[in-house]
Amino acid sequence: MSDHDVDDIAFLTGSPNESGFMVNKRAMYEPGAVMVCSQKRACCVVTMGFIAIIAVALIVAFTKPGCPEATYTGEPVPGMSSHATSIPPTTPPTATNGEEFPWTDVRLPFHVKPLDYHLKLHPNLTTKHVAGTLIIKLTAIEETTAIIIHGRDINVTSYSLHNKYGKPIDIRRFLVYPPHQQLYLELSEMLRRGSNYTLNLTFETNLREGLDGFYLSSYKDSDGNKRYIATTHFEPTSARAAFPCFDEPHMKARFHMSIIREPRHFTLFNMPLKSSSPTNESDLVLDTFQESVEMSTYLVAFVVCDFAMVSNMTEHKVNVSVYAPLTMISQANYSLRVSSYILDYYDKFFGVPYPLPKQDLIAIPDFGAGAMENWGLITYRETALMFDPVHTSSRAQQRVAVVIAHELAHQWFGNLVTMSWWSDLWLNEGFASFMENIGAGIAEPGWAMEEQFIVEKIHPALSLDALMASHPISTPVTDPAQIESIFDTISYKKGASIINMLESFIGRELLKEGLRLYLENNRYSNAATDDLWSALTEVTQKHNTMLDIKGIMDTWTLQAGFPLISVSVQDGHVMASQARFLVCEENVTDPNEPHNATLGYKWQVPLTYITNNNPDSSTMHWMNLTDIEFDLEKDVTWIKFNAGQRGFYRVNYDPEGWDALIHVLHTNHTTLSAADRASLIDDVFTLVKAGTINASVALELSQYLVAETMYIPWHTAFQHLFQWVSLSFNYPAHTLMLEYIHTLILPQYNRIGWNDTGTHLERLLRSEMLSAAVQCGNTEAIQEAQRMFQDWRNNNQSIPPNLRSVVYDTGVRYGSKDDWEHCWQVYNTSTVPSEKSLMLQAMAQTRDPWLVQQYLEYTLDHSKIRPQDVMTVLKEVSKNPGGRLPAWRMVRQHWTEISALFGHGSFTMGAIIKAVTSPFTSSFELGEVENFFRDVEVGPGERALAQALETIRLHIQWHEHNQEDVTHWLHKQLSKETKAEETFPSEVE
Ligand SMILES: *[C@@H]1O[C@H](CO)[C@@H](O)[C@H](O)[C@H]1NC(C)=O
Ligand SMILES: *[C@@H]1O[C@H](CO)[C@@H](O)[C@H](O)[C@H]1NC(C)=O
Repeated sequence: MSDHDVDDIAFLTGSPNESGFMVNKRAMYEPGAVMVCSQKRACCVVTMGFIAIIAVALIVAFTKPGCPEATYTGEPVPGMSSHATSIPPTTPPTATNGEEFPWTDVRLPFHVKPLDYHLKLHPNLTTKHVAGTLIIKLTAIEETTAIIIHGRDINVTSYSLHNKYGKPIDIRRFLVYPPHQQLYLELSEMLRRGSNYTLNLTFETNLREGLDGFYLSSYKDSDGNKRYIATTHFEPTSARAAFPCFDEPHMKARFHMSIIREPRHFTLFNMPLKSSSPTNESDLVLDTFQESVEMSTYLVAFVVCDFAMVSNMTEHKVNVSVYAPLTMISQANYSLRVSSYILDYYDKFFGVPYPLPKQDLIAIPDFGAGAMENWGLITYRETALMFDPVHTSSRAQQRVAVVIAHELAHQWFGNLVTMSWWSDLWLNEGFASFMENIGAGIAEPGWAMEEQFIVEKIHPALSLDALMASHPISTPVTDPAQIESIFDTISYKKGASIINMLESFIGRELLKEGLRLYLENNRYSNAATDDLWSALTEVTQKHNTMLDIKGIMDTWTLQAGFPLISVSVQDGHVMASQARFLVCEENVTDPNEPHNATLGYKWQVPLTYITNNNPDSSTMHWMNLTDIEFDLEKDVTWIKFNAGQRGFYRVNYDPEGWDALIHVLHTNHTTLSAADRASLIDDVFTLVKAGTINASVALELSQYLVAETMYIPWHTAFQHLFQWVSLSFNYPAHTLMLEYIHTLILPQYNRIGWNDTGTHLERLLRSEMLSAAVQCGNTEAIQEAQRMFQDWRNNNQSIPPNLRSVVYDTGVRYGSKDDWEHCWQVYNTSTVPSEKSLMLQAMAQTRDPWLVQQYLEYTLDHSKIRPQDVMTVLKEVSKNPGGRLPAWRMVRQHWTEISALFGHGSFTMGAIIKAVTSPFTSSFELGEVENFFRDVEVGPGERALAQALETIRLHIQWHEHNQEDVTHWLHKQLSKETKAEETFPSEVE
């Protein structure tokens, strides 16, 4: 229940889309060394350093007849992984015309570099046809007789190349190779190193139906008429589906854009409009934009629409505007205010002013991710941008602020300085995810955003990273499916968590100074992880802090997983050892081997602790790839490691250590901070899951919750307690767990009540607490929710925003078919995105099998459920005990359609696999999942599949280890409480 996130499927905001590693299907794509040609010919696998390049201009020419006389040298292409072995494909690639395609690598060579693109598009939103002309000015980095460029689903109708004097260069052959999305232009003469050329292309394509490239979206106006907009989503590899381009992040260039449109529309681009002029065609208008800054292709964006707008000038004179359909524009003021504020703040934080004259934020009705940081034109899912004070919950409002803060952070991390290659995606996403809590916290100081970091980032990251099927933060990727697959919790949340840990030992000021230096050194350019470490090393050394930043951080970025620190204390002598923590005992082989064996799964751990003598200030010892021992001062009665949970590791204590901490929680829990309480809860329940300690330890610890009043520990506890509920589905422990949770929440439920008041965190807590009460079967809570639901349905009585989720869910769960139909009606007519999203969730709660089935079938009909929402429906239905089997059947039955729809967006594929398989707990179900996926293509969802299978194994393991102990403990405990009730009836509500 507690992950009723308003909208948590957005990969760009760092949400739980832990998706797929490629189960060693890399033979085709692992280029490893710099270049690979097909095996039978002189092959030019050259891996040389810069010194060698200066010394020898190595030129290797192809010699085989029919092979173009392309010339390649050993210029290292940024980001090409050097440790992977290159395996040439077994059959030479064949172009669409049947000829051999001479370039076998999925990466482009770095022979030519684009300087600027002049792109003119004529899209027609009625016919869906797009006509384009493109002039790319490029410079030859190396001598070459071929230009290779990306293009996907594009028909090139003419092409020509000219040298800088305007003299044409004959293009002998033009080849297309769809599997690698590449176009090959074979030239009659050699391009000269350092010279500039102009490539002219005209092309045709269609507006796409999906959620990437240049695609069509639609909404209903106030009269119920359907209106179309055309919009883009390019990250990571879909710019090539809109226009031919060198679609790799290090191939930065300037963009000159113009778009032909009808007068009823207007257009947006990364830069402001320069001019509008009539065209020869009747009534059409040509919009031309100012030249962009130097930027990567995946950040280009343009929109054709008829939206309304609100705007504002920031203190630093950036024109910020929010665009949305007219029916929603009244919900845009909050994001306008927050984005203006955060943009100015980041100017100061990063020490580099935002370089563009404007920043547009636009709500796109069909949007796969949460938002996309296109430079100067950020696109959002409606729920991530629209806020209405009467309707929108605190959680949904927080999401708006957080997503805005995330995307604005990208304007520096990602846009100004871009990762050299996708393997370092975490540099973009980890940083933006780290900054989003800071940015949102600045805009909303009362929200405790920095405290929430633990539950929003660290806990989910630790949870995923404890699987063998996790992956290192820095991970080699080459083809588009692999690239898609790393937009996951590891890049986002583990990335953010290790920066947070770094900040814990160097401090915010040094971190800031290091980041500024990094941005300064690499602006309008690209960087790798090591560039960040060297900037940070430089500033720490300047301040006389002798830390081997790279040495420390490499242990966290190059290896998958994290350590479990096992501590035992004897007579004041502490022994702490480290070992990789894997939650599932029965494991297949490590998919990351042999790449990461070098560090041997040991880490440089900043081991911190507090004790009863010093509960407010922590002490730190470094564990430098080793175990350590040290002595405590006298009179230590308890010790808690990982103070404030700033470190990315877990801790296990000896039995006396756990007892002492449990004692502190039971007697005076506020001795420990809310963060420390949450960290103990998360560790203890996870260690039980792993079979490391007995379930009774976690359950005994959890008893302190009767006195807990804070959101962060409760949120953590709900995650685990309700997971145990769902794991024991069909077992006696199921009802016992619900009964037990009910005894824990009752005092807080009674305290917190049904008035939507208090601080932000109190509101978040109330929402989860009421929902927990309903789940535990609290009659009063169920009746109150049903009463409010009927009042809303029949008398149009508005429900306070933070109570809506529990009221709608309960209303549908205990309601009639008519109640469900009413929600469907509201879903279809509401103009409030947060309300629509609650309806989607509520409709999944029905206990009517026919309605469950109907709802699932709606996901196949795009006119009923938008593709962007399919995942949410499947996930919510799978969480409903009566929905898990129908959802699983549905996904199997319609796998081909689902994969046609989401094949490009791996986070969706992976998330769907996880959503429908996550309730499974038996070997039988494991077998079913394995059998089904054995023969189907999951594309970029492969790592997610491996993670899903491991998770089911983990659930089976939980049963084997804990089912009996949990049942036994709960029986004993609950009968004790019943006795107490009999003796002191007045003390119990
Ligand atoms: C591209 O060419 C193919 C094959 O000739 C054709 O079927 C398709 O309709 C064309 N697409 C566009 C957008 O012109
Ligand atoms: C799109 O096509 C329709 C129908 O042919 C035409 O009326 C309209 O002007 C076209 N719009 C553009 C932008 O070409």
